[in-house]
Amino acid sequence: MSMPLPPVLVVDDDKNMRLSLQTVLEDEGYAVRSVSNAEDALKLLDHDKFFMVITDGHLGGMTGYELLSQARRLRPELPVLLITAYATPKLAVEAIKAGAIDYLSKPFEPEELLHAVARCAERHRLLQENASLRARAVEAASLDQIIGESPKVRELRQLVQTVARSTATVLILGESGTGKELIAGALHSCSPRRAAHYVRINCAAIPEALLESELFGHEKGAFTGALKQKPGRVEEAASGTIFLDEIGDMSRPLQAKLLRFLEDGTFTRVGGNEELRVDVRLIAATNRDIIDAIRQNQFREDLFHRLNVVQFCPPPLRERGSDILLLAEHFLRIFNATMAKQLERISPAAQQKLLSHHWPGNVRELRNVIERAVILESAPEIQARSLPDFHLETRLRKGDLPIVPGTHSIDELMANYERDLIVQTLELNKNNLTKTAEQLKISRHALRYRMQRLNLQSEHDTEEELPQNPGKEVTPC
Ligand SMILES: Nc1ncnc2c1ncn2[C@@H]1O[C@H](COP(=O)(O)OP(=O)(O)OP(=O)(O)O)[C@@H](O)[C@H]1O
Ligand SMILES: [Mg+2]
Repeated sequence: MSMPLPPVLVVDDDKNMRLSLQTVLEDEGYAVRSVSNAEDALKLLDHDKFFMVITDGHLGGMTGYELLSQARRLRPELPVLLITAYATPKLAVEAIKAGAIDYLSKPFEPEELLHAVARCAERHRLLQENASLRARAVEAASLDQIIGESPKVRELRQLVQTVARSTATVLILGESGTGKELIAGALHSCSPRRAAHYVRINCAAIPEALLESELFGHEKGAFTGALKQKPGRVEEAASGTIFLDEIGDMSRPLQAKLLRFLEDGTFTRVGGNEELRVDVRLIAATNRDIIDAIRQNQFREDLFHRLNVVQFCPPPLRERGSDILLLAEHFLRIFNATMAKQLERISPAAQQKLLSHHWPGNVRELRNVIERAVILESAPEIQARSLPDFHLETRLRKGDLPIVPGTHSIDELMANYERDLIVQTLELNKNNLTKTAEQLKISRHALRYRMQRLNLQSEHDTEEELPQNPGKEVTPC
C-alpha cells in the first residue's frame, strides 16, 4: 500500500550547507533536490511533488520566512522546516507562528535533523494512507449502490471497476430506468478523476439552441442575451468527467462539434475563434435505439463509433430474476428510514406479484412501487394489495424491444415474447392457469413448465399454488 516517498526540497544559499544537508539525508535513504534561493524553490513546488521543505531562514532575495508563507499558500499541507541562525526563543516563536512544522538552530547535530525529517516522512505516509483508504471507501460505496446478484449485474459491477481506471469513452445503452445514470456516477467515483468535477448534462432537457453554449460556453455578444462571456460545462469538468445523458437527442450540427472535441480535445466557445483544449472523460447514455437513429440519419455513425469505445448494456429488470426482490428489499430499507416506518418484509404473495410483473419502467418503476407501498401499508409487512394493479403498466409494455445488434440472441428475444404473451393471458384470466392454458392451446402442465422456465409465478392461481422458484435466472440481456 505504501507509495514511494517523494523527495525533500532543500533551500540554502550556502553551497556547503546545501551539500552537507543533502549528504546526511541521502545517506539515510531520502531523495533530495536542492536549490539556492526561494524563487527557484517556489517554481519547483508549483510543478513537482515533495514531502517536505527544509529552508534556511536567511536567503539572498526572498527570505526563508517569506518562502514559508508562500509555500503554505501554494501547498497548505506541505511541512516546512526552518533553519535559524541563532537559538533565540523569539526566532523560534516567529518560525512556528509563520507555520513552520519545526525549526532547527545552527549549529545542529545530524541526528536532530534526521529526527525532524523522519517525523515529517511518517506524517506524509499517514496522510497518504488515509487518502487512499478514503478513496477506496468511496469506490466501494458507489459500487455497492448497484444492487443485484444476477450474473449480468455482477459482470456490470466488475466492468465498472475495470473501465473506471481508464479514460476510455463509454456509451451506456438501455431501457429507461435500468440504471444508466447510476453506472455513469459509479464510473466517475471509481476513477482516478474522482476528486475533480462530475458534470451531468441532459441533452433532451436543454433547448437545442442553448445546448451548444451550455456545453462549450459562449463569448460576450455571441447572441442576444449573451451579456458576458460564459465558460462551457466541459471546462467545469476539466480533469474530471462529463456525462451526456440522452445523447440520442442531440442535433446533428452539435454532434459534429462533439466529434471534433472527442477527436482532439479542442473546441471553440459559441461566437469565439480561440481554440481551447480541456482534458475531460466523456460518458454518454441513451434509451433510444441508437442503431435505428443512425439508420434514420438522426445520429452520426462516426460519432457512435467514437463514443462506443466501451459499451454498457444494463439489462431490463424483467431479465434480472430474483434481483427484483433484492432491489425491492433495498428500497424498502430506504423508504422505511426516510418515512420512519418499520415494515419488516415483503409478504410472499407480494413477492410473487413483483416477480411476475413485466417492469416496463424497470428499476425506477420498482422504486416508485415500493415507495407507494410503504406509504400505504398499515400491516407490519407489505401485502400484495398495497402494490398497484399492474394492468395499466402492462399496457405500457413495449411491443418491440430495442434491438442492439449483438446484445440479444434470437432465443432471448423469443423468451421475452413468450413471457409477454403468458403474462398478458394470465392477467386476462385473473391468473387462472387452466383457462390460460386453454387459450394458449397448451396443456396446463406445459404452461406451468414454461412459467417456471421464464421465472414467472402466478400470485393467485385459483386452483393450486405454483412450486416456489424465485431464485431461477431468466434470459440474460
Ligand atoms: N442496480 C441498481 N441498484 C440500485 N438502484 C438502482 C439500480 N439501478 C437503478 N437504480 C435506481 O433506479 C432509479 C433509476 O435509475 P437511473 O436514473 O440510473 O436510470 P436511467 O437508466 O438513467 O433511466 P432514464 O433512461 O429514464 O434516464 C434511480 O433511483 C437509481 O438509483
Ligand atoms: Mg438517466
